Amino acid sequence: MSQYQIAVIVGSLRKDSFNRKLASAVVKLAPSEFTFKQVQIADLPLYNQDDDANQAESVKGMKGEIAAAQGILFVTPEYNRSIPGVLKNAIDHGSRPYGQSVWGGKPAGVLGISPGATGTAMAQQHLRNVLVAVGVLTMAQPEAFIQAKEGLFDENGEIGAGSKKFLQNWMDQYVTWVKKHAG
Ligand SMILES: Cc1cc2nc3c(=O)[nH]c(=O)nc-3n(C[C@H](O)[C@H](O)[C@H](O)COP(=O)(O)O)c2cc1C
Repeated sequence: MSQYQIAVIVGSLRKDSFNRKLASAVVKLAPSEFTFKQVQIADLPLYNQDDDANQAESVKGMKGEIAAAQGILFVTPEYNRSIPGVLKNAIDHGSRPYGQSVWGGKPAGVLGISPGATGTAMAQQHLRNVLVAVGVLTMAQPEAFIQAKEGLFDENGEIGAGSKKFLQNWMDQYVTWVKKHAG
């Protein structure tokens, strides 16, 4: 049986991030042939094109993890109707130097959670736009705009009963998408 390593990128650096919590919980809905690892983006420098010929160790490390993965899972908050700068910074780093992007052809899924009712819809749409530019193969459907509500997570931090069916279906579709497109 094939094994699939998935790089998880969370767009929040906040200690008690809902998005990190969602990322940790949702991966438990995947089959055992899928393993997930959160990629560190907090220590990446601000992207500067002058550094392309001499990328920081943290950038090389992140790029190595993406390159080695068979798929990517983005879980992002919405900041001012878009994606957080830290997430865009990571994507920009991974796309350079020109011709050495790690993103092209990688299957990906997009999730997000916010306390607000729109559930990161606009951030996800912006993210999809960016991912097209770097050649990521983002799953179109199902979309998942999650609102942080009482009961979303159970006492063990796992997806609560009320949202399990919805997110299980999302994960099943994601697994199918990655298997279809993993190189
Ligand atoms: C700078 C900033 C901008 C925000 N803008 C939005 C927004 O446009 N839409 C929204 O639903 N929530 C917005 N929020 C609220 C976030 O959804 C909320 O802080 C959320 O908890 C962030 O995700 P996290 O818990 O994973 O850190 C914003 C928060 C911050 C700090």
